[in-house]
Amino acid sequence: MSDLISAHGLVKVYKGRKSEVRALDGVDLAVPEGTVLGLLGPNGAGKTTAVRILATLLKPDAGTATVGGHDIVREPDAIRRLMGLSGQYAAVDENLTGSENLWLFGRLYQLSSAEAHSRADELLGQFDLEDARDRVVKTYSGGMRRRLDLASALIGRPRLLILDEPTTGLDPRSRLGMWDVIRGLVREGVTLLLTTQYLEEADELADKITVIDHGKIIALGTADELKSQVGGERIEVVIRDRDTIAQARELLARDCGEEPTLDEHTRKMTVPAHGGAQTLVQIVRDLDEAGIHIDDIALRRPTLDDVFLALTGHASVDDPTGDEPVKGRAA
Ligand SMILES: Nc1ncnc2c1ncn2[C@@H]1O[C@H](COP(=O)(O)OP(=O)(O)OP(=O)(O)O)[C@@H](O)[C@H]1O
Ligand SMILES: [Mg+2]
Repeated sequence: MSDLISAHGLVKVYKGRKSEVRALDGVDLAVPEGTVLGLLGPNGAGKTTAVRILATLLKPDAGTATVGGHDIVREPDAIRRLMGLSGQYAAVDENLTGSENLWLFGRLYQLSSAEAHSRADELLGQFDLEDARDRVVKTYSGGMRRRLDLASALIGRPRLLILDEPTTGLDPRSRLGMWDVIRGLVREGVTLLLTTQYLEEADELADKITVIDHGKIIALGTADELKSQVGGERIEVVIRDRDTIAQARELLARDCGEEPTLDEHTRKMTVPAHGGAQTLVQIVRDLDEAGIHIDDIALRRPTLDDVFLALTGHASVDDPTGDEPVKGRAA
């Protein structure tokens, strides 16, 4: 399986008057044909910058990349013919109708007027926008706009699709709908590079996940591989009576071979469960034998949020250090 996208050591520095931002600081990416790569990172991580470079909209300051075997700097036209891009901010025109927008994109992709019309009709059907086809986009909901934007990226039947945060701002139901649409495209064989700040989304859609933070790749693997980096499964026990906590703690340490951590406020103890469900059974038995009552016990697999926290020392979203403040500019 050859790589449809292959990037090495990409660097991008945005220079301001007083300071500069190293938006990408040596990024490598590989997306084998027919697979989905999730580029996961918080605000300001460098996702859009990477996407724009691969889509030939921005030149890197250092590093090289090929898309479909074509060099991003020397052969941008060849790359644009094989890929579709749905950017973070919609590219559709608010004052045109859905069908006018798609027709226009079709013409931009060198389709004849008749071909553009029939491709537009096909996509309006596929994306459940038939009823809204003759309404101006201004009147569309956020979910409808997103779908139209994705449809416009598909006009030229691209082999490669790049989606920059396809579900940001959508409500949970629209997000699920979008995931279905994306899965359908992948089933049809489209290669996909998807950026997201949602760990759950990368977990849902991507074969491999590349985690980016402050312009650097900090982890790469399948969702399961990343999760196992934070030490696998854990058992959480909520002890009912405070005065049995000390005894429970000893017991858990013995069963798991490691000191549990305790949240005093919630009376919740957490301990690594190397033996999985078997360890859980042992703990339940021992607590019961010792007459220690519990309110809750669970075997918890780590989430990708835990992975992010473990890798970066900060949470994945709402990272206050992620964005450089803009200085010396009036609001
Ligand atoms: N045109 C620009 N001029 C100056 N700095 C920029 C420019 N575009 C992006 N940056 C900075 O580069 C860094 C990376 O930005 P980028 O938009 O690639 O991040 P992102 O991961 O897409 O974030 P988000 O999730 O918020 O979309 C940020 O610190 C951002 O402020
Ligand atoms: Mg972005």
